[in-house]
Amino acid sequence: MMSSSSSTSLTVAAALLLLCVSMMISGSTGQLSANYYGHTCSTVATIVQNQIQTALQTDPRIGASLLRLHFHDCFIQGCDASILLDDSATIQSEKNAIPNINSVRGYEVIDNIKSAVESACPGVVSCADILALAAEIGVNLAGGPSWTVQLGRRDSTTANQSLANTTMPAPNDSLTDLKSKFSDRNMNTNDLVTLSGAHTFGRARCLSFSYRLYNFNGTGNPDPTLNTTYLQTLQQLCPQGGNGSVLANLDPTTSNGFDYHYYSNLQLNQGLLQSDQELFPTSNADTISIVNGYSRDNNSFFNSFGQSMIKMGNLSPLTGSQGEIRLNCRQVN
Ligand code: HEM
Ligand SMILES: *[C@@H]1O[C@H](CO)[C@@H](O)[C@H](O)[C@H]1NC(C)=O
Ligand SMILES: *[C@@H]1O[C@H](CO)[C@@H](O)[C@H](O)[C@H]1NC(C)=O
Ligand SMILES: *[C@@H]1O[C@H](CO)[C@@H](O)[C@H](O)[C@H]1NC(C)=O
Ligand SMILES: *[C@@H]1O[C@H](CO)[C@@H](O)[C@H](O)[C@H]1NC(C)=O
Ligand SMILES: *[C@@H]1O[C@H](CO)[C@@H](O)[C@H](O)[C@H]1NC(C)=O
Ligand SMILES: *[C@@H]1O[C@H](CO)[C@@H](O)[C@H](O)[C@H]1NC(C)=O
Repeated sequence: MMSSSSSTSLTVAAALLLLCVSMMISGSTGQLSANYYGHTCSTVATIVQNQIQTALQTDPRIGASLLRLHFHDCFIQGCDASILLDDSATIQSEKNAIPNINSVRGYEVIDNIKSAVESACPGVVSCADILALAAEIGVNLAGGPSWTVQLGRRDSTTANQSLANTTMPAPNDSLTDLKSKFSDRNMNTNDLVTLSGAHTFGRARCLSFSYRLYNFNGTGNPDPTLNTTYLQTLQQLCPQGGNGSVLANLDPTTSNGFDYHYYSNLQLNQGLLQSDQELFPTSNADTISIVNGYSRDNNSFFNSFGQSMIKMGNLSPLTGSQGEIRLNCRQVN
């Protein structure tokens, strides 16, 4: 006969094994899981995809904009849809923070997705999860990788404009600044180089880089790291004292496609933002070999991109009874 204590420990061992196996099956990382809405809103990914496909018909840039929304959400208070909250009596909106105002876009498409999701499964799916799904689908529909989106985030009841003002990476940040802003979120150098590959599609305004074109850092000359042929193109698009809201393609070669050309652009000194070219400086840096690796092998970039996106998507999610499921992504319930 088995003693009761050894049968108890067997039961515990079996329960632990079952837990491990079920976690592997559901593909969960941390507190989130891939099949979170399996019983409550199994069509959510299809609904998001249909809405993005509709938006793409009139706006080839929207996939890029949705990816950026998720990034700017996750870096401030974690992936909690804080970026979607409008100004109100209790909210100083992150939308009006320096890195976001007149720049981050796609809010109306998120509203449309949320309405469609609410019609199918009322009160179930968070705005934070919609952002995570929209980022993956936006990338994939542009020819990029797919990855297993982890779900189960809840929505914040707060936003933090000052944090967005001061801690988002800026286009004029040095490599040291970029690394430290990423490591503050437990994102490493590999994540920095990999996720910067998001600048393989979408646009930037002249005002985000025109300081490189004429009198860079008071030198009276353009940024010497900028390819001279590319410089001329950019000077035509963004004349000195011109309209800072004019848009340039972040990737001059394949502007709407998600591919690995971002990295070969850097090798040709055609990084649009200073923060892009910082990853491939003329001096030694640990980022150079990562750029060279990705420029040779689209599969390794695509695989890493999915992994780093899952890692970013895991930044401080609200789970369990934290936060709420917003009914309207723009306001707390
Ligand atoms: C590494 C630090 C980063 C900096 C300094 C940076 C900065 C910028 C800037 C300045 C723009 C153009 C904004 C404008 O002029 O209106 C931009 C656009 C964009 N960024 Fe980043 N970014 C960074 C990382 C990322 C990451 C990690 C992602 C996503 C994973 C991302 C995705 C995008 C996309 C897709 C666009 C184009 C958006 C559109 O066309 O609407 N960026 N970024
Ligand atoms: C924003 O974040 C900062 C730094 O974590 C904190 O000191 C401040 O209280 C927060 N503000 C709001 C409005 O939550
Ligand atoms: C964020 O920056 C903007 C623009 O400089 C400024 O108007 C706003 O007051 C700042 N917000 C906070 C909370 O510091
Ligand atoms: C980047 O530009 C902003 C706005 O012009 C400026 O306030 C900031 O000091 C600059 N940062 C760096 C690192 O040069
Ligand atoms: C500046 O450019 C933007 C984007 O092309 C355009 O919407 C806006 O009307 C322009 N502003 C002026 C003053 O020309
Ligand atoms: C500048 O870009 C052109 C392509 O437009 C390329 O042929 C050339 O090698 C680049 N120059 C440098 C120094 O990277
Ligand atoms: C990516 O690599 C695979 C094989 O390694 C190749 O079949 C495919 O055409 C490549 N795609 C691009 C866009 O270069």
